[in-house]
Amino acid sequence: MIHDVDVDDGKVARLKNSRAKPPSLEVDFEAIERTGYQIIRDYGPNIERLKSFLESLSNGKLFHSERIGGVVHQFSVLPGAKSLAEQASCGGYHTDFMFQPRPPAYIALLCLRPDPKHPVFGRNQIVHRDDFIAKMENVFGLSEADLKCAALRYIFPGRPAFDVPVLDNLDGRTIFRLHTSLAQDRNGPILRSGLGLKEAVEAVCSDVAQDFVLDRGDLLIMSNHIALHRRSECTLAYRSDGTSFDSREIASIRFDL
Ligand SMILES: [Fe+2]
Repeated sequence: MIHDVDVDDGKVARLKNSRAKPPSLEVDFEAIERTGYQIIRDYGPNIERLKSFLESLSNGKLFHSERIGGVVHQFSVLPGAKSLAEQASCGGYHTDFMFQPRPPAYIALLCLRPDPKHPVFGRNQIVHRDDFIAKMENVFGLSEADLKCAALRYIFPGRPAFDVPVLDNLDGRTIFRLHTSLAQDRNGPILRSGLGLKEAVEAVCSDVAQDFVLDRGDLLIMSNHIALHRRSECTLAYRSDGTSFDSREIASIRFDL
């Protein structure tokens, strides 16, 4: 299969399958800046096609991590999973690779198999930075500047606890650095409401989150800098043999421009 990739002006790119399968792919980074994400329906569950397209789009700046097995992270929901990505329980709002000096700018998420009880389960949720900041200020009186100082605590075995502010500066832009599943409040309630910072962040995220459902072959491209993401609760559908089952399966690739 041959793909022709045209990069127009650095912001919009098109992928044309030479064996003619319209419509062509367009990634609109201005729209992603406005909303935090873009969904391309019926892209097709073809990981190699996506990888080669993003390789061209990013000029080779695909994000590599040994932890996820290279460039492509393919995962499904598993019973008793230890890793966050494979658990059936609802995930926390987060930035991918938040502890890296430069977290990857974008995440492409390709649905290989939706949740067995989709669309009720396995949906994706995204929080845009601007919606988050406006609500945090309106409800809890915490401004953007406050949130660049207000830190959550992260504790991992074998190392001292450390604090990371919810917002950060990167290349002159305000970005998220956050993982609500890993974070802890530092000193109990800090806000007039009696909530801790983590509780307030989670409450506001649930308030302003945009919810959507991916079908098989749908492609989600989202900002990892100006948006948080998570997945909702997932399910497992066991077959009668008691060992094999169906569950949500996703492939993700992170990249920079
Ligand atoms: Fe993630």
